[in-house]
Amino acid sequence: MKSGRQPRHVISKWKKNKALLENKDLKPYLPEMRKFDRANLLNMLKKHKMVYVKPVNGSMGKGVMRVDLKPSASNAPYRYQLETKVRSFNTFDELYASIQQHKVKGDYLIQQGIHLLTYQNRTFDLRIMVQKTPQKVWKTTGYIGRLAHPKKIVTNYHSDGTLVPAEKLLSPHMKGPKIKSYCVNLQDLGADVANHLHKVFPGIREIGTDIAIDQKLRPWILEVNTSPDPFIFRKLKDKNVFRTVIRYSRANGRFQDK
Ligand SMILES: Nc1ncnc2c1ncn2[C@@H]1O[C@H](COP(=O)(O)OP(=O)(O)OP(=O)(O)O)[C@@H](O)[C@H]1O
Ligand SMILES: [Mg+2]
Repeated sequence: MKSGRQPRHVISKWKKNKALLENKDLKPYLPEMRKFDRANLLNMLKKHKMVYVKPVNGSMGKGVMRVDLKPSASNAPYRYQLETKVRSFNTFDELYASIQQHKVKGDYLIQQGIHLLTYQNRTFDLRIMVQKTPQKVWKTTGYIGRLAHPKKIVTNYHSDGTLVPAEKLLSPHMKGPKIKSYCVNLQDLGADVANHLHKVFPGIREIGTDIAIDQKLRPWILEVNTSPDPFIFRKLKDKNVFRTVIRYSRANGRFQDK
């Protein structure tokens, strides 16, 4: 790593994933990731049946695609979705050509797809906020659920997702006491991610980890953000969460960045 001023933000999903893979305790939480090319797409699709194709330097869910092999609701063996548009194909070459044509600028990666839990037929994932405190330790200060727009394959608030307390989204899937301990474990996982990433990227101050939960209730780390939006926590009823998040963000110099 460069000496001198350490970067506060790491944009590349590829670099962040590589850093997390170095930790043997975190590795089991990481969906398989490959660079986007024809051979990798074909292999990943055969292996996982459903994959996400997304920009290496993307944000707000822009340009993210979900690709399915032999989707049950369709006769055509290949299908992908971008925004609300679903396209189906008879051959892999047609699928690949269309994805190439609809990609946004820049490099893409392929990630093993996780079949997210749903709430009222909409998929959701969770965001865990971990911040460096004024005492210079990493602390999980908030977590919140993100419910996808009914017709979209991304949960981002800036892609028409809805912010909902995690406990509410989990309630159809597990009993009350289990929800509590499950959320405590996720908060611990967020802190583990932050402690490890900070060793690799010493300049970072805040980390928002996107957690997917699959049908077996297994959590997966979809990605980590080094400039996570603090304002999403305004949506929680408990105003103390937002107050703390903002206080730490200020102390971390978040609002002087640009
Ligand atoms: N492998 C995956 N399996 C299931 N869902 C996924 C997967 N990857 C992404 N998603 C869905 O798409 C959303 C957007 O993906 P991701 O967070 O990786 O990119 P981004 O939102 O563009 O980046 P950022 O969060 O930095 O703005 C996720 O929050 C999740 O809902
Ligand atoms: Mg994200």
